[in-house]
Amino acid sequence: MMNQAPGAQHEPQPQPVSPGEPAPFVYVTRAVPELTTSMLAENLPGVRIELNPLDRNLNRGELVESAAGCDALICTLADDISATLIEDLGPSLKVIATYAVGYNNIDLTAAKNRNIAVCNTPGVLTEATAEVAVGLMLACARRFGEGDRLTRQGLFTGWAPLLHRGHGVYGKTVGIIGAGRIGKRVALTMKHGFDCEILYHSRVDHVDWENDLGAKYVELGELLERSDFVSLHCPLTETTRHLLDAPMLARMKPTAILVNTARGPVVDETALVAALRERRIAGAGFDVYEHEPALAPGLAELDNVVLLPHIGSATVETRDKMGRMCAEAVIAVLTGKEPLHRVA
Ligand code: DGY
Repeated sequence: MMNQAPGAQHEPQPQPVSPGEPAPFVYVTRAVPELTTSMLAENLPGVRIELNPLDRNLNRGELVESAAGCDALICTLADDISATLIEDLGPSLKVIATYAVGYNNIDLTAAKNRNIAVCNTPGVLTEATAEVAVGLMLACARRFGEGDRLTRQGLFTGWAPLLHRGHGVYGKTVGIIGAGRIGKRVALTMKHGFDCEILYHSRVDHVDWENDLGAKYVELGELLERSDFVSLHCPLTETTRHLLDAPMLARMKPTAILVNTARGPVVDETALVAALRERRIAGAGFDVYEHEPALAPGLAELDNVVLLPHIGSATVETRDKMGRMCAEAVIAVLTGKEPLHRVA
């Protein structure tokens, strides 16, 4: 099937299955928007599409049992796509399309060694994830979570000058760690929406948007010492795992708020709980967790945190676009074309 020149065409086109060639088998590890499966069905005649019918992630054994022999796997960031899993899925696997921009859960080397294309969904979740990061900054600074709980519990007994004061966001200093698409969007929003000073730390010490925003590259320690809000936007790699450990968290201001919409293991969550409990930092807004979906002991009991269930990209529009991109990647590879967003 892989007989066309790479890059020849990106738009998926219906391809007749050659007589005698078995219809492709696509396994999808979680329920996805309907357009994903309808695109596959329309563009891969005879395709067998199987979806995990359960409302939970599959364990390794279940995944192998369900997906072995597939030609394409559409997975999520919650699936551990290790070298052994890739091996166990069998030699027909040609493409892994992850329903995410981050791909730290996939063994790219193992995939590359077996000439399996790995594709992700970059670009389409930038704004959605940035919205959540900005929302968490506001929610923590203005104490939305506590305010909501107080009101529901009937403890709002009338307006009062000293009632439930938080801190303003306007004009504060925001430190962006990871200056890719999402980091840039958050920086833009905080600059234009709240007139914040923007500091950033990233693999590169120059980004094309820094002059427009008056943003300044600084070392990580300086960023932590100067920022009122620290927002994480770096990928999870061996370099960024526990980037914010106890000594780094200790460099943050006691009035600062930490927001993580990137990947949980970038922060040492146990050290974070201690810092929050002892009020060495003022608050945290988290959408991702070190041992997701489990939370570090004590995190949920804290009042000065806002905790979300990894919903950075969870808008109807974005999830549809992500589903479309996964389908396009699978269709491209299974019809012998080069997929648009290949990371391995
Ligand atoms: C991603 O795509 O990596 C996001 O975390 C999904 O919400």
